[in-house]
Amino acid sequence: MSKDKVQIFDTTLRDGEQVPGCKLDTKQKLVIARQLDQLGVDVIEAGFPVSSPGDFQSVNEIAKLVKNATVCGLTRAVRKDIEVAAEALQGAVRPRIHTGIGTSESHIKYKFNSTQDKILERAYEAVAYAKTFVEDVEFYAEDAGRTDNEFLARICEAAIKAGATVLNIPDTTGYCLPEEYGAKMKYLKENVKGIEKAILSCHCHNDLGLATANSIAGVINGARQIECTINGIGERAGNTSLEEVVMIMRQHPYLNLDTGIKSEMLFETSQMVSSKMGMPVQPNKAIVGSNAFAHSSGIHQDGVIKKRETYEIIDPAEVGVTESSIVLTARSGRAALAWRAKKVGYELTKIQLDEVYEEFLQYADRKKEIVDEDIHQIIDGCKVKLESLA
Ligand code: KIV
Ligand code: ZN
Repeated sequence: MSKDKVQIFDTTLRDGEQVPGCKLDTKQKLVIARQLDQLGVDVIEAGFPVSSPGDFQSVNEIAKLVKNATVCGLTRAVRKDIEVAAEALQGAVRPRIHTGIGTSESHIKYKFNSTQDKILERAYEAVAYAKTFVEDVEFYAEDAGRTDNEFLARICEAAIKAGATVLNIPDTTGYCLPEEYGAKMKYLKENVKGIEKAILSCHCHNDLGLATANSIAGVINGARQIECTINGIGERAGNTSLEEVVMIMRQHPYLNLDTGIKSEMLFETSQMVSSKMGMPVQPNKAIVGSNAFAHSSGIHQDGVIKKRETYEIIDPAEVGVTESSIVLTARSGRAALAWRAKKVGYELTKIQLDEVYEEFLQYADRKKEIVDEDIHQIIDGCKVKLESLA
């Protein structure tokens, strides 16, 4: 049975770039955009053109450069924003305008000092106006996570009537629980007239560490696009991490969902974004962190050396990591030491291994990690005893 495709909408260059201190210039953005296009993302959100001349230029140059992915520009539900985005997207093979407005009670009351009916009207007009420039218009209902489902359904219906091709349901504040976010998607799927004409999109923030879980709950309940960033970067605690959602769908085939991402490019893409933004990847980050395929405790090392799958659910090569690593520390056992000693040229007998292991533990208690050079020194130090044992 063929799998349903979930579109990957990458917003590293827009929501991701909103991380304080991580601003990119146009040249850096172009390099990342080219990488994202090769990675196989379906949509690249290149920026918010009206926000600054620099962002306008970046969106414009990315629009001309990218040949496969749709290139998208963000706007508020404001005519001037939409006009500027349309101009910036000139030259794109597949242009998309992403327009929208806050829909939760707090946005309507405090941000806009308005009413639901007036917001609904603005949403309709913004989509209809964007539609005069491009065919592909995505509507976002900002703070949809805290928006009452009935009103959300009404505004989605209005956006579809105005011609929206995609409905973005952002959990802007990262507040929802996965069940709640999944139920929201299900509700929209079942209650919005004309929903078959549009794709529902997940856009989740990570304030409670639930962005990935919420996005997966969204696609299980009918959404067919996920908005995400490389390394999960973004405002505050970040956005949904692209590499996580892609690998979850791949590792759980019964979900019957897949993406067009070339997963073997994930690690290099993560490294590139991290270095261009000057934002290190936390070592324990799922999929792309430096410890994601590293094993340091004796029990785990023994298991991995015997059969990798004992402690790994992903083959590192699948995400572009050369191999799993066995990190030698004071928690490592004889199996790991023998394995590593063999790699650097020593085939130890059982008696020799016992001897070297004693020395190794002394050494490892003084150092955080034992590297190849240390192994040579440890074995050199044991030589006399080893020769007498040989
Ligand atoms: O988090 C959010 O609501 C957004 C919208 C502007 C799409 O980023
Ligand atoms: Zn966002």
